Amino acid sequence: MQDGYIAAGGTECNMQAAWIFRNLFKRKYKAESHQIAIVHSEDTHYSVWKIANLLGIQQLVIDVHKTSRQINLQDLRTKIKKAKSEKIEYFIVVANMGTTMFGTVDNIDDLTTVLDEEEVYYKVHVDGAFGGFTYPFTHPKNSLNFSNSKVTSISLDAHKMLQAPYGTGVFLIRKGYLNYLATTEPHFMAHKIHTLSGSRSGANAISVWMILRAFGSKGLQAKVKRVMDLKKKMCTDLDKKKIEYIHDPHMNIVAIHHRHMVREIQHHYNLVPDNHDHPTWWKVVLMDHVNESMVQSFLDH
Ligand SMILES: Cc1ncc(COP(=O)(O)O)c(C=O)c1O
Repeated sequence: MQDGYIAAGGTECNMQAAWIFRNLFKRKYKAESHQIAIVHSEDTHYSVWKIANLLGIQQLVIDVHKTSRQINLQDLRTKIKKAKSEKIEYFIVVANMGTTMFGTVDNIDDLTTVLDEEEVYYKVHVDGAFGGFTYPFTHPKNSLNFSNSKVTSISLDAHKMLQAPYGTGVFLIRKGYLNYLATTEPHFMAHKIHTLSGSRSGANAISVWMILRAFGSKGLQAKVKRVMDLKKKMCTDLDKKKIEYIHDPHMNIVAIHHRHMVREIQHHYNLVPDNHDHPTWWKVVLMDHVNESMVQSFLDH
């Protein structure tokens, strides 16, 4: 069973998870902040850089292979070993269920195998802010969920694929863990506080509930299938045109290499690059409002 709450977005959910795990390591193992590190790939959302800074913990940024964007396991092992030699022994691991730029999904089994072999204390948080309402439908047998005993918490953004109003993240965590944040100080509230944000609008929680009820599981499956079909069409055409791109087969994002991109398309479709000063990739997200003729006219440019 899980606990959870509606947060302001993926950033707050990721923060909430890391904050809980930092407190757990401190309370349970008497760890000091400098012995705790957040571990994640270089493609991870920039919220984790904020989190490391705010929580005053160390950060291990792991290289990815440049075309598959999968975590370089050798680099992970080397950085864990180095951290251990510097007395960093507790790790908050962020596994991506869809990176922001490429939509690629981390292989959680490979990640945890390395951590187990290195015999370190760790907790895994799944960042599903981007893929949380897509990937479970396109790849139901994935192991980035609570059926995997190594996953402790998950974030999802309802204001992305679910199209809830902005400011609607979903934080989920196994039962018991929220106690690591419970306030002990006396205050005017009748109950304990377990969340990062204080006062907030209940309308966001209602909107998620209503959207989920309106679509139902079948409705969401159909919605995701539609955009995935469009994405397949796009990939087939890009292959024919010999255009280089990166994608995860189960996600609705295609990142197109800069050398194929023209300014007119970037502007017309408001595309986002991986790096604004030196772009290498431009991402295209297939969303609900996109139809076949829009994909065709994009490809015809
Ligand atoms: C993978 C991932 N994590 C976290 C976030 C942060 O979410 P938010 O902007 O809702 O705080 C994003 C946003 O794009 C994201 O793509």
